[in-house]
Amino acid sequence: MLRAHWSGRLAFILAAAGSAVGLGNIWKFPYITGTNGGGAFVLIYLLCIAVVGVPIFMAELYIGQKSQANVVESFNVVAEKKTAWRSIGWLGLVSAVLILSFYSVVGGWVLDFLFRSVSGEFLVETESEIQSTLGILFQSPVRQLILHLFFMVLCVLIVFRGVQKGLERWNKILMPGLLILLLLMFVYSIWLDGFSKSLTFLFAPDFSALTPAGVLEAVGHAFFTLSLGMGAIITYGSYLKVSERVVPTALAVAGLDTLVALISGLTIFAVVFSFDMEAKAGPTLMFQTLPVLFAKLPAAYWVSLFFFLLVSFAALTSAVSLFEVVISYWEEAKNTSRARACVLWGVIIYLMGMLSALSTNVLADFKLPIVGLTFFDFFDNLTSQYFLPIGGLLISLFFGWKLSAKACEEITGAKGIWSIGLLWTARIIAPVAVGIVILFKILEDL
Ligand code: TRP
Repeated sequence: MLRAHWSGRLAFILAAAGSAVGLGNIWKFPYITGTNGGGAFVLIYLLCIAVVGVPIFMAELYIGQKSQANVVESFNVVAEKKTAWRSIGWLGLVSAVLILSFYSVVGGWVLDFLFRSVSGEFLVETESEIQSTLGILFQSPVRQLILHLFFMVLCVLIVFRGVQKGLERWNKILMPGLLILLLLMFVYSIWLDGFSKSLTFLFAPDFSALTPAGVLEAVGHAFFTLSLGMGAIITYGSYLKVSERVVPTALAVAGLDTLVALISGLTIFAVVFSFDMEAKAGPTLMFQTLPVLFAKLPAAYWVSLFFFLLVSFAALTSAVSLFEVVISYWEEAKNTSRARACVLWGVIIYLMGMLSALSTNVLADFKLPIVGLTFFDFFDNLTSQYFLPIGGLLISLFFGWKLSAKACEEITGAKGIWSIGLLWTARIIAPVAVGIVILFKILEDL
């Protein structure tokens, strides 16, 4: 059977940027930058993207593109034999299922805010009413389950249509849509009083505000935001024709992702500072602080609508990449149809996601034994703090030690400083950086 392919390099870049640009960029990056004091954290984050993120991105892209195979099989193909390294693929599959299960729940919250923006209800509500929206949603199991269902169904419908007719087509619509909405909001924010303060906050580093925990968070986030450590880029890369070059492609995706994070941050903090609010709101920044502030701005209806539309696009294009990892594996390994795989895994992931959707209400008081977390927090912590970094660490070692210099020369096009740099980054620098993060996480959790 002939394997599906992207129609070209641009299609891959849009799809991979669609995967990378997600809630991590628009929801998480601004709030962790806020809680970590701004500029110094941003600088460390950029460093992590360059030193750890980009090399591992290249490794994943190389493994996928070279093997033209799903996340488990790809390790066997590039190693040219059946190898234990393929367990990285198993870990990736488990991560994909777990992440998507709660990502879809959060995607549902975003859709809720989108619907409320469309209806215009924030315009007529009082400040405290707007602020209580998220809490009301949390208290309503039925509403959460319906929204989670809605988001999962969208995701299934896109992936079900296949690589070109589903993923490529929708990324080609949603990603430019996202970029246009973001630029409109950004240009708008330049005229707000808080813009210059936002610039200073993000780009004038104050190292006294940076904590060791902040540095760890930056490394972890570099993974999450580039969709690394679980084979999403391996899978998307496996649909890229072998003739396309790795380096410019990887740089384009990482560059786009970073740009979107920075522009979102600038825009959001321009709004926050225009009302003399604090940057430290945390996870509720997007769902409680922003809707209140949006309602006070000129053209409030459109600001809120555009913003939540933009976030919905970002969440959906990331979710489909997680789903595709599972589907491409299942379809090929079990020799079944894409439709069957989509229905089966759509249902399983929906059911697992119910545990997260109910974690804010019915199951709020249920804490998992030993770890003492709700399902939602457990799935989130387990994947983003352990599975992704461990996956990334192993991929880096596999690439650096097993595929070694030959792969690096193939990627960079020649022997020389760049290929040697990539080799030793993959062999030592990235694994050590990530290893330290995992170690600290273990110590913290003990
Ligand atoms: N990168 C996405 C974001 O920033 C989330 C995501 C999609 C992801 N696919 C992934 C994270 C794979 C880790 C691994 O929101």
